[in-house]
Amino acid sequence: MKLYIETYGCQMNFSDSEIIASVLGGASYDVTRELSMADVVLVNTCSIRENAEKRVLGRISELSAIKRKRPGMVLGVVGCMAERLKESLLELCQGVDIIAGPDAYRSLPHMLGQARDGRRMANVLLSEEETYDRIDPVRLDPSGVSAFISIMRGCNNYCTYCVVPYVRGRERSRDPETIIREAERVYNNGYREVTLLGQNVNSYRWSNGSKKVDFPELMSQVAGVSRQLRVRFATSHPRDISQKLIDTIAEHQNIARAVHLPVQSGSSRVLEKMNRKYTREWYLDRVGAIREKIPHCGITTDIITGFPGETEEDHRQTLSLMQEVRFDFAFMFKYSQRPGTAAAKRWTDDVPEEVKGQRLEEIVRFQQQMSQKSNDGDVGKTFEVLVEGPSKKDANMLMGRNSQNKVVVFPGGSHLIKTYVRVKVHDCTSATLKGTLTS
Ligand code: SAH
Ligand code: SF4
Ligand code: F3S
Repeated sequence: MKLYIETYGCQMNFSDSEIIASVLGGASYDVTRELSMADVVLVNTCSIRENAEKRVLGRISELSAIKRKRPGMVLGVVGCMAERLKESLLELCQGVDIIAGPDAYRSLPHMLGQARDGRRMANVLLSEEETYDRIDPVRLDPSGVSAFISIMRGCNNYCTYCVVPYVRGRERSRDPETIIREAERVYNNGYREVTLLGQNVNSYRWSNGSKKVDFPELMSQVAGVSRQLRVRFATSHPRDISQKLIDTIAEHQNIARAVHLPVQSGSSRVLEKMNRKYTREWYLDRVGAIREKIPHCGITTDIITGFPGETEEDHRQTLSLMQEVRFDFAFMFKYSQRPGTAAAKRWTDDVPEEVKGQRLEEIVRFQQQMSQKSNDGDVGKTFEVLVEGPSKKDANMLMGRNSQNKVVVFPGGSHLIKTYVRVKVHDCTSATLKGTLTS
């Protein structure tokens, strides 16, 4: 049987698709990259914003149309939107055979068997323990350089705008030994970078009797697998950026000099309404602590614009925080009200669409200037770059990333893929550094 998986949303979802491929691999389903070959089509979905869901619904109706012409094809919806909409998705989308939430992937072989017998079904039970810890993911990214390792699941933070705690359930951490073994395995298979993943990765905490492992300890252990293995992590919550974590990054040359630290807003008043549990001052203090201990550390962020009640003054504070921090890169979004969240219950979505649009445009433009400045500052410097493959725009060029997670493009031969090289930067855009090999 051939399995085709299409993945939307965050890195956790991409990592989950690799877990799904492994679970189904054990039941004789092989992954195909050709939709036309597939007996089973799964769509791994995201609920974070309304747009994300609309896009997926559009895709499901396209796939349903394909299915009508291909009797025997099974169509499943998995992931966060499956969890949010539950059985109602079966009514909404008549072409869909199965619905599986993020903690139900072990039951997929059974569910697909039922679906082939013509029974439509849903499993959206959330678990307090499931971490898929002994499952060896099937790597779906063809480059073979950089692998995701999921180290915790769920979120307990309940930021008032966010749907994740409802669709991913309670926070739970994975057995560290299984994480180290997975890191060793990918290293032995030629990978040279791992990203430790969790919605709230730095609140990782595992204990069994007297044995306790926190996130900095886990990172040290993963970094110890090999000095040739670069270690990244995503996403960290500003509240949990401890001095111990900062010291641990500083101590290990192979832990990436890059922290993705979503701020969401520069206004303490808005942060409080968001239930982010930190203030503007706290955030700036943490950035200062990172910069002091880890020179040349890339700092990137997420920002939401147009949260309920956000005033022009709040918006100005976001811009001024961006100016103060000088983020290397940012993901920026318009607030999207999610049904069932605290913000949806407490406040109306009262910033007019037009104002949200203007504010977003303003922060995007400002960030682009900041990104350009950040990259301009790298011209003349030499970086260690892990080569990922040919550049998408020019097959004669190679593309890789430096420790700060910036994309670097330079001329070179394909034998350099999966190795570390030194590249001197001589030019840049706001998105890319360009350079040449140097010794
Ligand atoms: N766990 C991570 C990020 C999770 S979702 C964290 O806490 O930082 C990724 C990003 O989507 C968030 O950082 C936020 O900027 C954005 N986001 C989440 N919910 C949103 C909503 N309702 N509307 C707009 N953006 C949202
Ligand atoms: Fe959502 Fe907040 Fe949890 Fe991130 S920390 S996943 S934004 S609730
Ligand atoms: Fe989306 Fe779920 Fe990730 S809602 S952002 S795919 S955790």
